[in-house]
Parts: sequence; C-alpha cells; structure tokens
Amino acid sequence: MCGIVGYVGDKKAASILYDGLKRLEYRGYDSSGIAVNDGFNIDVVKKKGKLEQLKGKIEDNVNGGTTGIGHTRWATHGQPSDLNSHPHSDCSQNFVIAHNGIIENFQDIKKYLLDKGHTFKSETDTEVIAHLLEENYENDVLSALKKTIENLEGSYALTILNNKEPNRIYVARKDSPLIIGIGENENFIASDIPAFLSETKDFYILEDGEFAVIDQDNINMYDFDLNPKEKEIYHVDWDPEMAEKQGYEHYMLKEIHEQPDAVRRLMANRVMPEGIDLEELNLEEEFLKNLNKIHIIACGTAYHSGLIAKYMLEDLLNISVEVDVASEYRYRNVPIKEDELVIAVSQSGETSDTLASLRKAKQKGAKVIAFTNSRGSSIAREADEMLLLKAGPEISVASTKAYLNMVVAFYMFSLFLAKKQEKIEEKEYLEMSGDLIKLPDLLDQVIEESEKLMEDKAKQYAKSENAFFIGRHTDYTLALEGALKLKEISYIHAEAYPAGELKHGTLALIEEGVPVIALGTKESVFEKTLSNVTEVKARGADVTAIVYNGAEDIEEVVDHVIYIPEVNELFTGALTIVPLQLLAYYTALIRDCDIDQPRNLAKSVTVE
Ligand code: M6R
Repeated sequence: MCGIVGYVGDKKAASILYDGLKRLEYRGYDSSGIAVNDGFNIDVVKKKGKLEQLKGKIEDNVNGGTTGIGHTRWATHGQPSDLNSHPHSDCSQNFVIAHNGIIENFQDIKKYLLDKGHTFKSETDTEVIAHLLEENYENDVLSALKKTIENLEGSYALTILNNKEPNRIYVARKDSPLIIGIGENENFIASDIPAFLSETKDFYILEDGEFAVIDQDNINMYDFDLNPKEKEIYHVDWDPEMAEKQGYEHYMLKEIHEQPDAVRRLMANRVMPEGIDLEELNLEEEFLKNLNKIHIIACGTAYHSGLIAKYMLEDLLNISVEVDVASEYRYRNVPIKEDELVIAVSQSGETSDTLASLRKAKQKGAKVIAFTNSRGSSIAREADEMLLLKAGPEISVASTKAYLNMVVAFYMFSLFLAKKQEKIEEKEYLEMSGDLIKLPDLLDQVIEESEKLMEDKAKQYAKSENAFFIGRHTDYTLALEGALKLKEISYIHAEAYPAGELKHGTLALIEEGVPVIALGTKESVFEKTLSNVTEVKARGADVTAIVYNGAEDIEEVVDHVIYIPEVNELFTGALTIVPLQLLAYYTALIRDCDIDQPRNLAKSVTVE
C-alpha cells in the first residue's frame, strides 16, 4: 500500500528516490511520482503505471537538486491517473507533499478551501493538505504544519518540501508508518526499512503524533505540541542482500526456499533439546498457569496461522481459543476478561484492522502479545509484549516464510504454555521439542521432493478456472491458506472446505477434470478424508493428495501423491504448506501473472 521516500544530502536526489521507490514496489501501487528541490524550483513528475514509465520522464524533467520526495500510490480517492498521482502541491507551488493514508474529512476541508479561493488539480484527499498548509502558513512551516494536522481526521505519513527551504524536508506521522534513515551528510525517509537498507542500517522509527524536520546533517523531532523529542536509534541487522532477489526469478520463490533458514532463525536460543524458552515474553507464572482463554486476531494469511494454533492449543492444553478476522473483531462486542490473553499476529505489524483490534482489546484491559516480523512496527510497539518472527524481509505480496514462522511460533508457544500449565508429560515435551528442532531439515527435504511435481501439476491446473482444497483438522486450515495463495497470485477461483462439508453443497461443483487438492496428513482422521476423496474422484475430479508417510492406500484412489516426512502429527502443517505454496507459484508463473505484485493487492494494508 502506498510507499513514501525522501532524501536530503549531497548527491542528486532523483536517482536515489527512484531506487528507493523501486525497493518499495512490493507494497503494491498503481502510479508514482517524485519532486526535487534545487533551490530555484521544485520539479514534480508523476505517472500512472509502473515505475519504468516514470523513469523516462525523470531524466528530461527533473533538476539536479539534492533534496526530494517520492511516492508510489495505491488509489483510494480518485482513479489511478497522472493527475491523481503524488506529489501534490498548493496553489502557489510553495508546498509539495506526498501522503500515505486517508484523510477522512477531506470533503469538508475541500469545501472550506474552495470557499477561500483555492483551486484543485486532482480528485485526491491528499491535495487538501497542501492547500491547508498554504492557508495556515505565516513564515513558519512547523507552526503551519501543527495547525494543519489539527484539522485532519484520518491517517497520514506525510513528507513536505517547501520552496523557501531547499535543503529540508518536514514529515509527520499518524497511523501510517514512517522511518528516517540516518546517513553521513545525508538522511533518508521511507515508509519501510528495505527502501534504504543499502544506504544505512540506523533508523529512527517515527511514532504516531510526531513531526520531524530533516536536513542534511540534522534530524529534529517533535511531538504534535512542538515539544522536542529524543529518540533511540534502531539498528537493523538485516543484510541488504536479504531484500534482493539473489538470482531467483521472483521474490516469492526465493522466500519459499528461504523457509528452512527462517525457521532456524526463529527457533535459535528459543527451542532446545531440553525444551522451549519464551521467557522473553515476560508473562507472569501465575497468569500463564491460570490462563484458560486465548483470543487470536489477524488478517488474511496471518489469520490462517491463528486457525492452526486453535487446533494445537485445544489439543495440547484443552483451553478455549477464539480466532477472529481483525476487520470483524474490531466491530464485534467480544467479551474479554483481564485474565485472558490476546495474540495479535501480523507480518508487517502495520495492518490497520489488526492494530485497531489490538487497541480495542487493550482498552478492555486484556494483555496483548504481538507475533510480528517487524520490531519497530505499530503493532509491536503498542502490544504489551512481542514475539519477533525473524523471517527476514518478506517482499512478495503473497506471504510464505512469514506465515510459516507464525505457525512455528504458535507451536513453540503452545508447548511452552503446556509445560507451564503442567499439561504435558516430560517425555512428550522433550520429544515434541526435538521434533521442532528437526523441522528446518524436513522443510529442506519437502522443498526438494515436491517442487518438480508441483511444477508439473501447475502445467495442468493452470488451464482451470476453479480449484478446491479439502482437509480435516489442521489440514483444513492449510487448505484455506493453499486456496488463498492460489487465488491471490494466479487469479484462479479457489475454495477450501472441511473435507466432510463437501456433501452439504459444494460437491455439486465437482465435475470431470476439476482440480482437488486433498490434504490427509492427520492419521487420526485419515480414513474419513479418504472416503471424501473417493467421493470427489467418483465425480471425475483430478486429485493431488498430500498425506502422511504411511498413507499408501490413497495411491489407488488419486492421481498424484506427495508424502510428508514423519513428524509429530501436530506439526505436519509446517511441512504441508510448502507444496501448496509451490503449486500456487508455478501455476501463476505459467499463467504469466505478476507474481510478486498481484493485481489490486498491497503488501501492507494500512487502510480499512
Ligand atoms: O502484515 P500482515 O501479516 O498483518 O498482513 C495480513 C494480510 O494482509 C496478509 O497476510 C495477506 O493476506 C497476504 N497477502 C496473503 O498472502
């Protein structure tokens, strides 16, 4: 969802801004633009479409100034067009701004400004900010900015150039991420760290209700009352290469292959042969011992990780777990007691619905833990405690390695809690911890064994317009995630069902050649799933089965089988997901889809 970059330094800004925007492409966008200030002019170029189209315009139309801002837009107000692209300016061209977020009261402000004689060039909500700054300006930009944001309702990460101060950028943040990269004789602004990871590893994370004034050698930060603020530098330990493709055709494939290492990083110093150490969560022994209800809130793929956790926690601890899609949870009246735990799960840590749900749960007095891949994110900062997923930068819009680390984080947490509540025998606890340690090697094995078959199946399934994923128990939650992956990147209509539910309606859709991906990794319910597979097969479906090692009976019934290596039945999900991700990837590849940036989607969903 929209990306922002900014640069103040001693180098030509245009190419640095363009490269920064390129590295934020994964967030999803439909148009882009940059503005550069050389002390005489602020040149603005903007273009609908991919960044390559902007590039041609930059060379001929942008000055060699060393201060500038850039933006990739994901349209909300007004269709994607050159005019609606950011940056936007006021009537006098004194203020040029880029904005992520939504100004909810822009229509009222626009009416006020039109009455005052301002003229508008775009249909966006953003443009009102530039004109409001112009209206409030009396020779001091910071005061004008303070007055302006007092009138704004909604969310914003704002970057502002001012014609009268050629080597300075003003920024403000509320409910939309913004970071400042610290360099030598230069500073950077971005909505996400990968934009300038090659230039610096030191960042300030701007928080809600903060401004910053950024010069080449100075960064001054303030709260919204203009009191100066000191902030700690956030040092990232990611290598720039972690955010590059490293020879893979797409980030998604690279990230699928990175999964064994991502799980190793997640478990390091947390999962040992002698058990699980999650004391970093700082949860009191008494609280953990008496915990008998957990609420999990998340969106999309992160929500699917919560569904797996529900089965696992219920099986192992016999406690009640509610899993909610955050966009529903935030508007439901969910009773929560103070001795219950809320877990907010989010790769980006910026998903607006998850953040709103977290705030609601906190207001009700609940203890909230964040499972997130982004340490400096809003969700990480607002939760009481955090479990960092350590998947490394995930660039592809379709989440793979972050999902897997969420699932494994729930495995770890469930075992940790089972031990605290004395609901697991020592022998079983040690065996399960040992099985967790084996997961990365088993993941390597599953990738190796399933990739070619999935590539072949993709050639066949790429011609279909529908696909069905079925399974029971945690396999059903995997089916949901497999179907989401397939529809998200290949645009094939895919649905997931509990295997036993088909005969209550969906069986009517099964006809000759329809792809059905049947998951049967749970020995305890395998026979039941097998009879459902027989039902779809009898109606002509082409069935690919992913089953536990030892379920050879299925070979006589289905078209293709993938065996999942032996591991504790509660952990098979972490392995089963891999062939499903590969199937989605290769199907989208054959259909020539834009795999890393699927249509209409954004990596980080910071609006409702
Ligand atoms: O950053 P989050 O984990 O909060 O994102 C939640 C969803 O938007 C995300 O998982 C989405 O469903 C993915 N694109 C799926 O691959």
